[in-house]
Amino acid sequence: MRDGAFRPPTFAKGRPQAPQLGHNSPMLGEPSMKHWAGSRTIASLSDRATRSASFIAPDASGDASLAALELHGPDEMLRSLAGSACRLPSELERAVPKRKAEYLAGRVVAAIALSQCGAMDVHVGRNVDGSPRWPAGFVGALTHGGGLAAAAAAPASRYAGIGIDAEYLLEPRVREEVAESIAAPGELAAAQLALSDAMQRALPTILFSAKESLFKCLYPQVGEFFGFHDARFVEAREDGVGAGFFRLELVRSLHPTFPRGWGVVGRFAVANGAVQTAVGVRQWDAR
Ligand SMILES: CC(C)(COP(=O)(O)OP(=O)(O)OC[C@H]1O[C@@H](n2cnc3c(N)ncnc32)[C@H](O)[C@@H]1OP(=O)(O)O)[C@@H](O)C(=O)NCCC(=O)NCCS
Repeated sequence: MRDGAFRPPTFAKGRPQAPQLGHNSPMLGEPSMKHWAGSRTIASLSDRATRSASFIAPDASGDASLAALELHGPDEMLRSLAGSACRLPSELERAVPKRKAEYLAGRVVAAIALSQCGAMDVHVGRNVDGSPRWPAGFVGALTHGGGLAAAAAAPASRYAGIGIDAEYLLEPRVREEVAESIAAPGELAAAQLALSDAMQRALPTILFSAKESLFKCLYPQVGEFFGFHDARFVEAREDGVGAGFFRLELVRSLHPTFPRGWGVVGRFAVANGAVQTAVGVRQWDAR
């Protein structure tokens, strides 16, 4: 959307839908055991340290696949993930166990999400700038935060880009400390107007996470770093318990496709002391 008005996305009707993944909400994707068994990449994982979790989708179209695992102790995770076909890149071979476990868990959930899009046993690599390298024909994003590792993947024919992020809720003292570095003066105050008290307290974390999701979504298309003050969190609205929409707009032009004022609607969820956000740029929004 290029106009300034906040509108919840309109969801396409009558289009082929991906299988419903979540049991608690159609917006939340949880990998089913069918998917676990269906891919050689993930077939031999022991499930003690690899419990699946839900993650919010960028919209209700069902065109994006989401997969998430709860993160446990790094050593336990590494033992369990050793059974997967995912391997560390050479630059991470000497990393601390926590980093290795997060990286591998991210690659496992990426393989699950891709398998749900029909790309079986495909591995997500790592570019020199640290961004994930998705197989040709697919876009996606990874996060490991808020106690889980999660991935979103979708056919590039449907989305120009996807971004997801998860964070533990910032503590009150930290919320005040980071506010200036992640938001312009008045940005948080304007964005909280339509929110309940509980969501107002979560808003700094939602804003932080939403901007990281936007970065992961746009970076592969823009090709350069952009900061928290390059986008503005315009508005947030709840549409369920602990969940809702937000709108972000660019404060400066990043690319001819993403000029100043360009905006996107994403989704947030707050549960278990953590925030999840997801942003998706549909192909028709990126023209
Ligand atoms: C890159 C960044 C967004 C990662 O977010 P994070 O909360 O630190 O970490 P997360 O666990 O959520 O995500 C990590 C994953 O992000 C992905 N990632 C890293 N760099 C990326 C990039 N340039 N583009 C897209 N994805 C990237 C990777 O897959 C990484 O996991 P991996 O190293 O195991 O493969 C963050 O460190 C950063 O640099 N933020 C500043 C830029 C920004 O957010 N600007 C706001 C614009 S409005």
